[in-house]
Amino acid sequence: MNDIRNGGAFPLGDRVVKRLGYGAMQLAGPGVFGPPKDRDTAIAVLREAVASGVDHIDTSDFYGPHVTNRIIREALHPYSDDLVIVTKIGARRGPDASWNPAMSPDDLKSAVEDNLRNLGLDVLEVVNLRIMGAVHGPAEGPIEAPLTVLADLQRQGLVRHIGLSNVTPKQVAAARAIAPIVCVQNHYNIAHRDDDVLIDDPATAGIAYVPFFPLGGFTPLQSTALSDVAKRLDATPMQVALAWLLKRAPNILLIPGTSSLGHLRENLAAAELELPADAVARLDAIGKSTAQ
Ligand SMILES: NC(=O)c1ccc[n+]([C@@H]2O[C@H](COP(=O)([O-])OP(=O)(O)OC[C@H]3O[C@@H](n4cnc5c(N)ncnc54)[C@H](OP(=O)(O)O)[C@@H]3O)[C@@H](O)[C@H]2O)c1
Repeated sequence: MNDIRNGGAFPLGDRVVKRLGYGAMQLAGPGVFGPPKDRDTAIAVLREAVASGVDHIDTSDFYGPHVTNRIIREALHPYSDDLVIVTKIGARRGPDASWNPAMSPDDLKSAVEDNLRNLGLDVLEVVNLRIMGAVHGPAEGPIEAPLTVLADLQRQGLVRHIGLSNVTPKQVAAARAIAPIVCVQNHYNIAHRDDDVLIDDPATAGIAYVPFFPLGGFTPLQSTALSDVAKRLDATPMQVALAWLLKRAPNILLIPGTSSLGHLRENLAAAELELPADAVARLDAIGKSTAQ
């Protein structure tokens, strides 16, 4: 039996979570919109994740919208004391499945209330302020106004800890002057390395870095080096991609997403995978050759 404790643990707010967690976005329907094609399996995936030791689940009320949070509630409520559910606010879905910024004080307040209601919680453990940024990735710009609103909701006791998502290093620094930030959730994986500087910055080493799209997201990772290393280690390319992230920095927490029990088991087993130094060197080169 695999033991995900072998992947290590890291603080998230005032809790310590295992570094292998689970991202719930894939539990909504196609395009992260509407109900899942197989609700029973979605519930089974969540229950098996927690039964396997996962104590960190990433979600948002804009997955579905509302769908993913309601499935989490149905599968896992009442939640065990050690489970940390992290959600995010800052967007609203249009009827055409579009993702639209929703950053006014009323938008942010109602997003927190929606998450509380749909998850069945009195307080949200961690809320990421998700900045809509550019079409692909973050863009410089002030985030003080929405962050101040979120800090007010924290003072009211609705939110325990604040994180940021889709942000630049400058925005992280500016935010930390306004409120304590416990995590940053940005696009990062073995082939998409724009955040190397942020990850290597000693100033942010104490806060959790949570890469989204750790397996490539909507464009699953594919690389000869990944496949070669996987073959040599009798593992799968996705396991190698996750093991590389675990090795990349001690403050990286993983939230690979899947709607499949088989993939969940495969992903959690990555906690056991040891990457030899020469394999790491070969894998490091993947990002260097594609980084822009
Ligand atoms: N802050 C943000 O803006 C943001 C953006 C995107 C995502 N997120 C969060 O980050 C989490 C992770 O991102 P993600 O789910 O979009 O992308 P991901 O984890 O990089 O990849 C998920 C995709 O990989 C497939 N997959 C998973 N395990 C696999 C395996 N072992 N072998 C082959 N295919 C596998 C999944 O399909 P199957 O379902 O078939 O397994 C799905 O298509 C999300 O769940 C969400 O919580 C945050």
